[in-house]
Amino acid sequence: MAGDRLTLVTGGAGFIGSHLVERLVRRGDRVVAIDNLSTGRRSNLNGVDPSRLTFIEGTVSEVVQSVDPSGVDGIYHLAAAVGVRLVIKKPIGTIETNVGETSAALEFAAAGRTPILIASTSEVYGKSERIPFAEYDDVVYGPPSQPRWAYACSKAIDEFLALAHHRENGVPVVVARFFNIVGPRQVGEYGMVLPRFVASALAGDPIEVYGDGAQTRCFCDVRDVVDLLPRLLDDPRCAGGIFNVGRDELIEIGELARLVKDTLGSRSPIVRVPYDQAFGPGFDDLMHRQPDLTRLRAAVGFAPKFSLVQTIRDLAAASGESVQRSVESTI
Ligand SMILES: NC(=O)c1ccc[n+]([C@@H]2O[C@H](COP(=O)([O-])OP(=O)(O)OC[C@H]3O[C@@H](n4cnc5c(N)ncnc54)[C@H](O)[C@@H]3O)[C@@H](O)[C@H]2O)c1
Repeated sequence: MAGDRLTLVTGGAGFIGSHLVERLVRRGDRVVAIDNLSTGRRSNLNGVDPSRLTFIEGTVSEVVQSVDPSGVDGIYHLAAAVGVRLVIKKPIGTIETNVGETSAALEFAAAGRTPILIASTSEVYGKSERIPFAEYDDVVYGPPSQPRWAYACSKAIDEFLALAHHRENGVPVVVARFFNIVGPRQVGEYGMVLPRFVASALAGDPIEVYGDGAQTRCFCDVRDVVDLLPRLLDDPRCAGGIFNVGRDELIEIGELARLVKDTLGSRSPIVRVPYDQAFGPGFDDLMHRQPDLTRLRAAVGFAPKFSLVQTIRDLAAASGESVQRSVESTI
């Protein structure tokens, strides 16, 4: 019964994690959220019924040692060093966190044969030019001399480990490859494009588009995603599978900047910044990223409700700044 379920969410105070915790508590789960607050915030969980939530501050590998695996019904492993900007700044920490903490989460799941969902990323597709990206396609990476590929490779190792636990230990594992999940509470300081654009638009600062802006991405609202994740984890037919998670409508990044500016009525100029200047010399970006959602739709269906314009409005509203104020400050 949903009401009796005890669910563990690592990275539970993060952007996606906090929305997921809210969603799980709403359906009646008791939730243990683990987070070391490296990029997450305790305040992200302020809206959650405290009688259903236990928050434990710490790293996954330390905290799980004090939790009895037999009492846990499901695990969502979202804790990670997230994003390409962070991996360029802190490559050792990113690699060690993403591999070591996932290994700890999987060992914990194996001890109780507990279903576990592993958060992976579209970065795993690397430089593949085969659009749309399908889960069992080959992947292509740049060389280890370019730190940005460490994020993709660390997440790919997570996937190998997860599937190995499924095969060797019979752990019900689901891998979810996220494609640009966006929405309220996401912050731009670690390089995520939409919150960065929204923050600039609200502040009246230049909206910086890296490269020529013709690169395309797909964006999906976090509230649509957290409705989907429990369906993937709870369906035994999904165990051992990899699923792209996101939307498949492409938008050019230059177009996204204009959409943010128009939606928020901002007077910010849109400026182009060369990749070298944004990320350092030799940065490799991908022109297009689009998920093939055939497997996801066939497994659990997917009917997202939030438009990109709605997401932009809600992200701006949640950032606590008034558009009016930013417009006035530029007059
Ligand atoms: N947001 C996206 O578009 C996106 C895209 C692809 C993949 N993902 C994946 O989704 C997951 C969640 O990402 P997010 O966007 O919510 O980012 P986030 O930074 O808000 O969430 C990660 C959370 O993990 C916590 N954390 C980091 N290391 C930890 C550790 N060792 N122990 C405990 N907690 C730790 C952070 O404090 C943070 O709260 C990550 O695994 C990320 O790789 C996200």
